[in-house]
Amino acid sequence: MGPKLTPRLRAVADRVPEGARLADVGTDHAYLPVWLLLQGRIPSALCTDLRPGPLDRARETVARWGVADRTALRRCDGLDGVRPQEVDCVVIAGMGGETILHILARAPWVGEKTCLVQPMSSLPDLRGGLAALGLHVARETLAREGETLYVVLDLAPGPEGPLTAAERWVGRPEAHRGDPLWPEYLARETRRLRRALAGLERSRRPGDEPRRQELEAALRGLEQRKEERENADSMGHL
Ligand SMILES: C[S@@+](CC[C@H](N)C(=O)[O-])C[C@H]1O[C@@H](n2cnc3c(N)ncnc32)[C@H](O)[C@@H]1O
Repeated sequence: MGPKLTPRLRAVADRVPEGARLADVGTDHAYLPVWLLLQGRIPSALCTDLRPGPLDRARETVARWGVADRTALRRCDGLDGVRPQEVDCVVIAGMGGETILHILARAPWVGEKTCLVQPMSSLPDLRGGLAALGLHVARETLAREGETLYVVLDLAPGPEGPLTAAERWVGRPEAHRGDPLWPEYLARETRRLRRALAGLERSRRPGDEPRRQELEAALRGLEQRKEERENADSMGHL
């Protein structure tokens, strides 16, 4: 019963703790909070969005599935209209990494909550920008939807040590431990890095040099990880 969740949203839903009062930032259609409410997984949901059109869509979903008594809709930038004591879990899904950083920076209290983010772009900037906000990635979960792999990040308080270029690009290996999609993610991101580097090679603008160095360092790191994984696999077969 309820709206059907895509694998991406289902991966986010699976990380929401049972019984948590949820804030769904940038809710749009509100499928995630309404699904969680109908499953009995959360007692209440606070849905925010910057724009009236998405909030109208959220209102329609909430009314259609009869959960208006447990849902609040607010128009605001990120968490600006949410008080920390109102929620236990914050979800920011389906937005670019820079927008997610902007929202987190304006709500320094998110580190005290379960905080799940699902970026659609700029993952290296997001991973790299968390330390300045006193946050780090505790876990990364991958979800496949058609040809695309999406990443859900569980954030936790406290900065971690500086990330390498490869860690900014694909996350720390510990954060992905046991994820069956990890080898595929590593292979895809390696191909993406090679394409980006080939593009920079063709354009050869002097201002691109720092980016080229960053991407080369990331590619070396990813190739090393692949080698380590293959070595570990072959040891396992001895
Ligand atoms: C692509 S939709 C994602 C909807 C849903 N969260 C999901 O993952 O399927 C992005 C939504 O975020 C909203 N949005 C963008 N920037 C925002 C901000 N700073 N604060 C609140 N909502 C924002 C947009 O209006 C849009 O409705």
